[in-house]
Amino acid sequence: MKNIDFKKAVVYQIYPKSFKDSNNDGIGDLRGVIEKLDYLKNLGIDYIWLTPFYISPQRDNGYDVADYYNIDKTFGTMEDFEELIKEAEKREIYLMLDMVFNHTSTESNWFKKAMEGNEKYKSYYIFKKGKNGKAPTNWTSKFGGSSWEYVEKFDEYYLHLYDKTQADLNWDNEEVRKEIYNIINFWLEKGVKGLIFDVINLISKPEKFEDDLIGDGRRFYTDGDKIHQYIKELNEKTFGRFKDVITVGEMSSTNIKNCIKYTNPKEKELSMVFNFHHLKVDYKYGNKWSDGKFNFLELKDIFDNWQSGMEKGKGWNAVFWCNHDQPRVVSRFGDDKNYLIESAKMLGTAIHMLRGTPYIYQGEEFGMTNPYYTSISQYKDVESINYYNILKERGLTEDNILKILSQKSRDNSRTPIQWDNSKNSGFTKGISWIEIGKNKEINVENALKDKNSVFYHYKKLIELRHKENIISEGSFEIILKYNKKIFSYIREYKNEKLLVINNFYGEECNFELPYEKLNLLEYNSKILISNYDNPSKNFEFIKLRPYESIVYKLVK
Ligand code: NOJ
Repeated sequence: MKNIDFKKAVVYQIYPKSFKDSNNDGIGDLRGVIEKLDYLKNLGIDYIWLTPFYISPQRDNGYDVADYYNIDKTFGTMEDFEELIKEAEKREIYLMLDMVFNHTSTESNWFKKAMEGNEKYKSYYIFKKGKNGKAPTNWTSKFGGSSWEYVEKFDEYYLHLYDKTQADLNWDNEEVRKEIYNIINFWLEKGVKGLIFDVINLISKPEKFEDDLIGDGRRFYTDGDKIHQYIKELNEKTFGRFKDVITVGEMSSTNIKNCIKYTNPKEKELSMVFNFHHLKVDYKYGNKWSDGKFNFLELKDIFDNWQSGMEKGKGWNAVFWCNHDQPRVVSRFGDDKNYLIESAKMLGTAIHMLRGTPYIYQGEEFGMTNPYYTSISQYKDVESINYYNILKERGLTEDNILKILSQKSRDNSRTPIQWDNSKNSGFTKGISWIEIGKNKEINVENALKDKNSVFYHYKKLIELRHKENIISEGSFEIILKYNKKIFSYIREYKNEKLLVINNFYGEECNFELPYEKLNLLEYNSKILISNYDNPSKNFEFIKLRPYESIVYKLVK
């Protein structure tokens, strides 16, 4: 294996269902991924993160696993997977797999046996008696409604923080943990080089289950009491025994203090973490299901706190805008109508120059947008459909709900990858499981032909991370923190500095180097990357064009 420092690595996320369909059943698959490895090699990424392809009823698109040891036949076979690892490695690309262990599908054999009354398997899950004829607590599921499901035959409820078909596992049961370690080791022995742990900071549930009188329950199970103990044990029993395996924990509603602990190498827990605070700046009053503008100053404040806080504690972030749960970034924080190319490139630069390992979500690298669906029948996602019904009950009009969904639904990122200008955008020759988006001209074929495309900008960002130590190692300092248009920061490493300037809006604005940074003018400067022709060489004062972004490398 090529020696990759994860601080210098770039990860590319593949949602196989929507990536490339090789057998024309309308659903993307592993052979489709193999077909496109040369494309990914051309882009230059180091790891592929594959979202779940295990056997699953697909209620939550694979995050409801029924059998962790086998591949769902819609995605292919174990031979396909082994070939994928081999073919990827030939291209110096390594595989990271999604590990979903907060819950299993209710179709898993463990849960089925539990429902037969088998006590061993009942203790794999969290079954509780109700309280005064009601659920054990008032907690809400992340997908809406109660997080408890009643089972008449036991006169008990089981806990599901997500859909009712995703029953939470009982990590306090040692047998459960052993089962999980065996599964992880099974995949590591196949040559997997990275692991993503789905909502891993939710696995340690409280000893006492009580009502949440001020929230939805999350404060009782997020970063719970035994979380660090369980992650340390996970490390010791699984990936810690293998060389060169990188890990990332998906952390829901977490904080910096815990994330330092999760990732400071001294703690022997994980390589890095995802957090989502920067992706809630367009939740009006904290409510995801609202529409409207994002709060730019809050976004900068969150980046500042997380970048500086994690650096101080020697922790490490995964940095990203997009994944299969988030709308497309260019439609969200950019302008996909008037400045698609400029804003997509600016957003790419803003995130890739940060301290942390960048993750690219399929399609982001050539500027894919939200699909702009206009009818509920086009949506497939369980969360979107649940919330459509909830918002209807709350009295919102159909138009209003559809507008909110077109901004917030997870399906915004789950539409098929647009490969070319042919029918179904070259994704499938069959009928796609989910409709292709509106902007079909934004596709790989067109992007590869155009030297100015978003694709080549991302390719360059990846090359820069590989090449420039200051990007992987440098410290972070925000400047012009209260400027309402510009996100600018300085990275520093040895005798070098990086000055990163991003205009986040579609109007011209003035960048003025702050007084206390005028000493930077004494450095020799060179532009590493920008998104317009003829970027200003002088960075003391710049009239930035709409969404203009420039990175200067400064050397004494
Ligand atoms: C986070 C995953 O990213 C999301 O898609 C899934 O629904 C939940 N975890 C539950 O597994």
